[in-house]
Amino acid sequence: MRLSVVGCGYLGAVHAAAMASIGHEVVGIDVDGRKIEALSRGEAPFFEPGLPSILSDGIASGRLAFTTDVAAARGAKVHFIGVGTPQQKDGDAADLTFVNAAIDSLLPHLSPGDVVAGKSTVPVGTAASLALRVERTGARLVWNPEFLREGFAVKDTIDPDRLVVGVGVGDNASAEVLREVYAPAVDKGTPFIVTDLATAELVKVAANAFLATKISFINAMAEIAEVTGADVTQLADAIGHDVRIGRRFLGAGIGFGGGCLPKDIRAFSARAEELGRGESVAFLREVDEINLRRRDRAVQLAVDALGGSVFNKKIAVLGAAFKPHSDDVRDSPALDVAVRLYGLGASVVVTDPEAIDNARRAHPQLTYESSRDETIRDAEAVILVTEWDEYRRQLSPEHASTLTSGRAIVDGRNGLDAAAWRAAGWRYYGMGRP
Ligand code: UDX
Repeated sequence: MRLSVVGCGYLGAVHAAAMASIGHEVVGIDVDGRKIEALSRGEAPFFEPGLPSILSDGIASGRLAFTTDVAAARGAKVHFIGVGTPQQKDGDAADLTFVNAAIDSLLPHLSPGDVVAGKSTVPVGTAASLALRVERTGARLVWNPEFLREGFAVKDTIDPDRLVVGVGVGDNASAEVLREVYAPAVDKGTPFIVTDLATAELVKVAANAFLATKISFINAMAEIAEVTGADVTQLADAIGHDVRIGRRFLGAGIGFGGGCLPKDIRAFSARAEELGRGESVAFLREVDEINLRRRDRAVQLAVDALGGSVFNKKIAVLGAAFKPHSDDVRDSPALDVAVRLYGLGASVVVTDPEAIDNARRAHPQLTYESSRDETIRDAEAVILVTEWDEYRRQLSPEHASTLTSGRAIVDGRNGLDAAAWRAAGWRYYGMGRP
């Protein structure tokens, strides 16, 4: 099928390449000329495992192209909207500028019978109002939220755990078009859930709100563990065996960040308030606050580890990305902890396998070092804030001991073997662990 994808950021670029890889003919469109040039050369503008190979295969096959000219969307049967919906600069709500601009630019190129499929995360009610504009052209609008995780985006797009398509009243025909687009996944038995527009929009924010709540729940338990001497990682293992609860997303530490969870729960709260139902999701404010408190806690542990002051002391910060397998530093708890330690006068050196360039752009005041071992060398304290394997599995306390005589390690992700580090003579500080 001929498809267009408007917006070639994280979501759109992966979607375009993934759709070409399952056999569609796809044009990716973006206003950013540099991004389009890179993508056209088969280069991923961000770190995402598996993306470079499906990009270059798609381009080589002739089924995948990128352009800044939105007129190239003409003739496609389905037009996906994958632009960003960041948090507004002066509030919690989502900024819909890019969604509106994408729809405006697309309207002159739509033909009757086309399907516009929104993938961006939007406040509930957005799709219904966009549908009025789209329908004037004879095209139809559906909402098809995306649940991809950074680092697993290609797999999550080609082989998702569910597909959700929200359609206008009686518009089963558009749902069938989307079923055809996703035929390889549907044929494998992937649940294909057809809803109304509002439900589809809500599914996305509800899923992210639930995940954020799960993380903040365990982090709240970590706070209680800290004043009682309990161990939150054992607690998580024990409650996680209950299949109704499940162990995933019960990783206590410095909390969640990234381009989705933080802004999505804030936008959800803002939208609920507009709808007169702010109290229904009032707990999300608490979820946000618990999450932010964990960054303070990690900073406090570093201060404690260094005897009450970090001033002029070298601290090795392992990690800058908001999570491993990503170079994304948007709302990164790891980088925030580094910035706070720097603010307290510490001599901070940050390392990360993939995210240094993005981190430097966001926080040029910090010192960056590409080598893990040089970062640790002569540090008075080491703080692990992104659980890359290089820091979690492949760094032994014995090896770290050869690099520095500082013997304090703060494990901001509870990823290390506390007993092994202690046995090697280190003072180990976990998050919600004794
Ligand atoms: C998330 C959702 O998972 C995805 O479905 C949605 O489409 C977009 O938002 P992503 O932002 O890529 O995806 O990251 P995710 O893997 O969900 O992690 C989010 C944050 O939570 C990271 O900062 C991670 O370190 C943190 N986290 C995750 C924890 O602190 N503890 C956990 O147990 C799990």
